[in-house]
Amino acid sequence: MTDQVFGKIDEMLNAITQSELASAEELEQWRIKYIGAKNSIKPLFSEIRNVPNERKKEFGQRLNSLKEAAEAKFQELKAQLSRAKEDTSASDLDLTLPPGPLNIGSRHPVTLVMEHMIEVFGRIGFTVAEDREIEDDWHNFTAMNTPEHHPARDMQDTFYLKDSKEELLRTHTSSVQARVMTTQKPPIRIIAPGRVFRNETISARSHCQFHQVEGLYIDKNVSFADMKQTLQFFAREMYGADTKIRLRPSYFPFTEPSAEMDVWLGTDTETTKRLTKGTGWLEVLGCGMVDPNVLTNCGIDPEVYTGYAFGIGIERSAMQKYNISDIRLLFENDVRFLQQFSAVI
Ligand code: PHE
Repeated sequence: MTDQVFGKIDEMLNAITQSELASAEELEQWRIKYIGAKNSIKPLFSEIRNVPNERKKEFGQRLNSLKEAAEAKFQELKAQLSRAKEDTSASDLDLTLPPGPLNIGSRHPVTLVMEHMIEVFGRIGFTVAEDREIEDDWHNFTAMNTPEHHPARDMQDTFYLKDSKEELLRTHTSSVQARVMTTQKPPIRIIAPGRVFRNETISARSHCQFHQVEGLYIDKNVSFADMKQTLQFFAREMYGADTKIRLRPSYFPFTEPSAEMDVWLGTDTETTKRLTKGTGWLEVLGCGMVDPNVLTNCGIDPEVYTGYAFGIGIERSAMQKYNISDIRLLFENDVRFLQQFSAVI
């Protein structure tokens, strides 16, 4: 008799835990049967009379767990049904509605300026030469007349690759000069755009990565005057037809003589004041006549050929052109910043 009563509890527990329902009506039937005011668990409680005293406590506990199991299962079945309902609501999708707004990407301001420079030099016969960012010591320094222990290496604090003194992140695009001169014969007329790296403290004005466009022209009878004309053309195309430039004497190991070119921006606005450190002149590039040692290092006879080279910093031009006050904005990839250039053609 006792076993029969306990058996009823087991049977009902099985029925409850294995229930599967397909509709809200079935759920309601199920609720009435196991949880409602006249549910079928209730009558079992009166069976306690037929249970011997020493098992009455166990019987009570089993019945309570049965009640709890019914309630838990009810919640589970209810949740299942409402999930199923959500899934089928996908079939209500109206495919004839117009689509939401498309997020159109935009070119990065550095890319915009770089492409403009490529286009300007392309018009006077310069072709693009691109090369690696991980360079060896020879192409970055030694070939460029900056042998080991040369004090000019200090001008460019370098990231070396782990466990290697030979491989480094290029500190300038001048390394592409060596790549091109050792593989092509003059006349050579190339520009090399790309990213360069230096161990600089990051601030509003400088960064450990930035971009340059290198220029190289090697031929017979290339003169300093040719270089100046080319750079003046470039400045007028980039900054406007009445742009003034000036060449200041400077020093680079790979050019002789060397110069730096500034363009006149004036000091009328806060941005031009900041960019020009109050002088009105913006430093745009380094340049000079290719040092005969560089030609020799790269297998070109300096008695026959001469040439000029220049290296233009991109970020500063981009900052000036788009009125950007902090170089870090160019590397953070914040969409709110980058979106502002989507209208630039
Ligand atoms: N490589 C130099 C720099 O990064 C710029 C430069 C290039 C100067 C070519 C002269 C000629 O500072």
